[in-house]
Amino acid sequence: MLKVSNLCAGYGKSQVLNGLDFEVRAGEIVTLIGANGAGKTTTLKTLCGVIPATGGTVEFEGRDLTNRKPYDIVDAGITMIPEGRQLFPHFTVRDNLLMGAYKRAARPQVERKLEEVLGLFPRVKERLKQYAGSLSGGEQQMVAIARGMMADPRLLVFDEPSLGLSPLLVQQMFETIRNITGRGMTVLLVEQNVFRTLRLADRGYVLENGAIVRSGTGAELLSDPHVKKAYLGH
Ligand SMILES: Nc1ncnc2c1ncn2[C@@H]1O[C@H](COP(=O)(O)OP(=O)(O)O)[C@@H](O)[C@H]1O
Ligand SMILES: [Mg+2]
Repeated sequence: MLKVSNLCAGYGKSQVLNGLDFEVRAGEIVTLIGANGAGKTTTLKTLCGVIPATGGTVEFEGRDLTNRKPYDIVDAGITMIPEGRQLFPHFTVRDNLLMGAYKRAARPQVERKLEEVLGLFPRVKERLKQYAGSLSGGEQQMVAIARGMMADPRLLVFDEPSLGLSPLLVQQMFETIRNITGRGMTVLLVEQNVFRTLRLADRGYVLENGAIVRSGTGAELLSDPHVKKAYLGH
């Protein structure tokens, strides 16, 4: 579904991604794990068109999406839930959700889509008229995910969705992601919570210094000596 080949990117003169290769197949949950600063967010930003690729290609469902504009990438079926939620705090939850429907093809069926998405997030449904900024951190994260789904993506890309959430909410977050794939969506997930993430993921890649150094099923990576030592603390 998504095939990233030899991807290179960075900021100004500093190259961060040094030729990344990975793929996501339809229906999978795939994770990228790596230490702080390894280049995970940079990878997601590059494939979503937020920063330019200086080399390599991003192919999605057989189409070349390398260096396309962010809204073209959304139109093609990829939506990113960025780190830190990035809601509009002074707009209602409902308005925040409607802003997610900017994908051209999604517009005509916005109300139907809203109902469908809210079916997954009953807590969000109860809070439609509240200002987004008045919600708890966990609720805001749910709104951010729901907003991403309003664009009707086939691939949802998450950057650290559990950041700043309490342990109970972290668990809910992982359950939500599992439910999303149950509904036919595919997930690319970046998470600090390596143990949980590898338990959830079908496959994963380990990113170090802007390159993939390991890959395998979630179970394989969980028992990989290097992964255990570097990311699981034993
Ligand atoms: N906007 C930016 N400008 C310059 N350097 C950046 C910027 N964002 C990230 N970097 C650098 O790129 C490297 C990778 O960062 P990032 O992709 O955010 O890592 P991760 O998400 O894996 O923690 C780091 O060295 C970071 O300091
Ligand atoms: Mg990051």
